[in-house]
This record gives sequence, C-alpha cells and structure tokens, in this order.
Amino acid sequence: MKLIVTGGAGFIGSAVVRLAIARGHEVVNIDKLTYAACLDNVAEAANSPNYYFVEADICDAEAMADAFKTHSPDAIMHLAAESHVDRSIDGPGAFIETNVIGTYTLLQAARSYWEGLGKPDSFRFHHISTDEVFGSLGPTGQFTEDTPYDPRSPYSASKASSDHLVRAWHETYGLPVVLTNCSNNYGPYHFPEKLVPVVILNALAGKPLPIYGKGDNVRDWLYVEDHADALLKVLAEGTVGRSYNIGGENERTNLELVTTLCAILDDLRPAAAPYAQQITYVTDRPGHDARYAIDPTRMNEELDWRPSVTVEEGLKRTVQWYLDNEDWWRALQNRDGVGTRLGTGSNKD
Ligand SMILES: NC(=O)c1ccc[n+]([C@@H]2O[C@H](COP(=O)([O-])OP(=O)(O)OC[C@H]3O[C@@H](n4cnc5c(N)ncnc54)[C@H](O)[C@@H]3O)[C@@H](O)[C@H]2O)c1
Repeated sequence: MKLIVTGGAGFIGSAVVRLAIARGHEVVNIDKLTYAACLDNVAEAANSPNYYFVEADICDAEAMADAFKTHSPDAIMHLAAESHVDRSIDGPGAFIETNVIGTYTLLQAARSYWEGLGKPDSFRFHHISTDEVFGSLGPTGQFTEDTPYDPRSPYSASKASSDHLVRAWHETYGLPVVLTNCSNNYGPYHFPEKLVPVVILNALAGKPLPIYGKGDNVRDWLYVEDHADALLKVLAEGTVGRSYNIGGENERTNLELVTTLCAILDDLRPAAAPYAQQITYVTDRPGHDARYAIDPTRMNEELDWRPSVTVEEGLKRTVQWYLDNEDWWRALQNRDGVGTRLGTGSNKD
C-alpha cells in the first residue's frame, strides 16, 4: 500500500513510519517539523526507496492537495497534532489551529482526491486520536467506543473536535474513515518533555523527579511499537465508519510508574543512592484528569489484537534505549520549553 502518514517525524508517527516501511509499504511522511519533531526518528526508514518526505503544514490546503495529487496514496494515517496537554494550557491557539483546522484541511484534500478517483471503497482516512476525549474516570469503569465525549483540557477538546469532523465527513460525504482512540504511549523516541523521558533523564542528571499532585492519577500505558502495530491492523481490517479504542491493559498510577522506572534504573545504571529518593511532589496540573482506562473488547474480539508487551518489559526496553541513545535526547534538550515547568495556567496566547 502507499500511505500518507502525517506527523511522521513525531513520537508515534515515526513508529508507524518505521513499521510500515519494514512491512514493505510505501510511505509519504508529511510533517511541519515543529519543536516536537525529529527526523532522526525515521533515519532507519529514510534510506528506503519506499520513503518520501514532504515538509509541510497540514493547515496549508494547497500543499495538502498537491501531496495527494503527486503521491496518489491508497490511504492516509493522520497523526500530526499538537500533543502536549501542558502546552495546551499555556497556548491553546496552536492546538485549535493544527488539531481542528489542520484536520478539516486534510479531510477536504482527501475528499477531493477520493472523489476525483471515483470514490473507491478501498480508500481509507485513518484518524488517530486519544482516550482523553472521553474525560476523566472515577476508580472504576473503562472507556468503550460508546462512552460519551467529555474532554476537559484544550488538547483533548481539540482532539474531540477533530474526531467529530472525521465522523461528519464520513456521514455527510461518504469518505471511508476509521478512527482510533488510544491510551498513553511510551517507548523509544519519546520527546523529552513527557513524563517517562523526563523521569529517566532527570534521574540520570541527579535532578528532582516531578510528580504532579499526589501521583495518584491513573493511566493505561501502551508501548509505542504495539500502538503502531494496532494502527496498521485497524487500517487493514477495521470496518469503515467505526472507531476502535486501543489500550495497553496496563493501568498504573503516576507514582507507581515513576517508582518502577527508578527500580529499573537502579538495576541498569546504579547510582550512589536509589533514584526514588529524587521523587519530588509539585503543584498539580489544572483540571488534571483522575483516571483513564480502556475497554479493549472491540480490538480483542473484532480484530483479534492485543498488546504484546507488558509495562514492566516495555519500560525496561525504554530505559535501555535512552541509556543507549544519549546523542538523540541531548540534541533535543535545548528546544523551546524543554526542561521547564509548563501548563501552570499562566496564559501565553
Ligand atoms: N502520545 C500519546 O500518548 C498519544 C496517545 C494517544 C493518541 N495520541 C495521538 O497520536 C498522534 C501523535 O502523537 P505523538 O505523541 O506522536 O505527537 P508528537 O508531538 O510527538 O508528534 C507530532 C508530530 O506532528 C507534527 N506536526 C505538528 N503540527 C503539524 C502541522 N500543523 N502540520 C504538519 N505536521 C505537524 C510535529 O512536527 C510532530 O512531528 C497525535 O494525534 C496524538 O493526539 C498520542
């Protein structure tokens, strides 16, 4: 298949690009190269004759129309987004621009291309979204595909808007879409502003390991390479017009997650004192969702898909990857905002 992947220089998009190329697909990576992008993430795919890169903004209608015309894809996997909740609190504008207007622009470009081909049933617009659109759970229950939307941060509200647009383009124009809503990812090439890499890199630097609030917020953690595998499965076998929740079946509180990372580091890179002694509690994120949990029944039963990696194994691989790839993360540590506390509510927009 020939795939357009948007956001392919980011964390999850690059895992999709690497896996798709390894499986013999042709991939056109469209990325604006924002602060969160790194072309080294796709270095192993970039030598393939099946890989193409287009530096463009998904909000640029002309560039998107041109990409469809030039590359004639069989499908588009749309991952490009502003993705960091804390940044959405300080500067929501970029989230509305890319996540809402950008998705609208892509839908229009895809629709025009698909209509020009005579509306083939085989075309797919795969929209990649988050479980955060469902809001915050109490101690029990899980998100199903029928859970009502209840986004509570500028990030999740912008992603919810994009999900609604994608469904509307299917219902109104017949565009063959599939959607996925996934839980928290972690793994190699995770940009060093997100919790898992922040903890690993601060631990190694002897800095405080910041825990928001009491550290009792629960997330369902999925290894990024499992997510990429699930996405290619949904693209190939998902039913048009349907959405699929993807989870790791690995719920952990933030404190449990950080403590596990510390124990792995104690084992792989012992320091004078246990790394857990660096844990520091900091002011909570405004509107911090208490718990996310995915009911994976649809992925399990309809697509026979399950994550292959437990959180303990995935975290071990991740820590080892950061120990082995210091050049990669050092180069990103001086990017704008990295290493500083974001999202405390001081309005920058
Ligand atoms: N990270 C998670 O845990 C998680 C979980 C579920 C869903 N998602 C979704 O998966 C997708 C990818 O997330 P990620 O963590 O890899 O994000 P990321 O921030 O690591 O990467 C986003 C990529 O999109 C690109 N991009 C941003 N704005 C663009 C624009 N206007 N035009 C073109 N490219 C642009 C960036 O340059 C970057 O390469 C997002 O849609 C996100 O909402 C993420």
